[in-house]
Amino acid sequence: MQYKFICRKLINNYLNILIVRTNIIAGNWKMNKNLSEAKQLIKGIKKGLKSIDTDNKRVIIAPTFVNLVGAVKRTRKSKIEVAAQNVHAAKNGAYTGEVAADMLTDIGVGVVIIGHSERRTYFGETDQQLAEKVDRALAEGLEVIFCFGELLEDRKSEKHFEVVENQLRHGLFHLLKENFEKVGLAYEPVWAIGTGETASPEQAQEMHAFIRSILAKEYTQELADSVAILYGGSVKPANAKEIFSKPDVDGGLIGGASLKAEDFLAIVAAAE
Ligand code: 13P
Repeated sequence: MQYKFICRKLINNYLNILIVRTNIIAGNWKMNKNLSEAKQLIKGIKKGLKSIDTDNKRVIIAPTFVNLVGAVKRTRKSKIEVAAQNVHAAKNGAYTGEVAADMLTDIGVGVVIIGHSERRTYFGETDQQLAEKVDRALAEGLEVIFCFGELLEDRKSEKHFEVVENQLRHGLFHLLKENFEKVGLAYEPVWAIGTGETASPEQAQEMHAFIRSILAKEYTQELADSVAILYGGSVKPANAKEIFSKPDVDGGLIGGASLKAEDFLAIVAAAE
């Protein structure tokens, strides 16, 4: 066991020299946690992280907008980075209820989630709008976690590869190669989000490898090898290790299980 672990570490270290791909574990809190609950959760995560090996891992939390300032303040001297769950495409202006990218960078938020299926489904966000959001976020210096994934009917009708490719083409492939330094991808099959049903590790690996292959075709193999591709959809402490062990899975975007420090920490620990 110990021997296997050391071998894997050595192989990983060797591959990292070639690829330099960091695991990312990001908690998408969605519309959960008021101020005092957010404080408690951050406190728990900070405490737990002290006893977890976080080398070659980024730990990100994405609270609601109103709790971002507090989250940045409370995570300042920790490994935790803070992300927003959304951003508007315009620089600023008369967009009641919206938040601009430079307002996020101004308070110390470095990452934004764009294209989550809940934004696409409940708020009608289109590929075109998402592409504009990505451009704005990058122009203002934010990193982007770009989400996409097929519906159950797409998978049943075996259109999942086509759907995912289209989402990437229309939302992201207008970018220049160098923009990808600040872009991570999150494959989140919609049928696995909040349903308790996960893609099997093999299904996740198959899709992630496909994503890398289209990145290689559209850009270069080097770029394809360097982009982090996260899996999201009912990741739990019980299944995280197996999913993360797949070679093209570079961590996860976690919903429900990121709302309990203990579960989120176990998922962080599962990424190697
Ligand atoms: P669950 O982990 O609750 O399925 O949510 C996944 C997700 O949507 C993360 O963005």
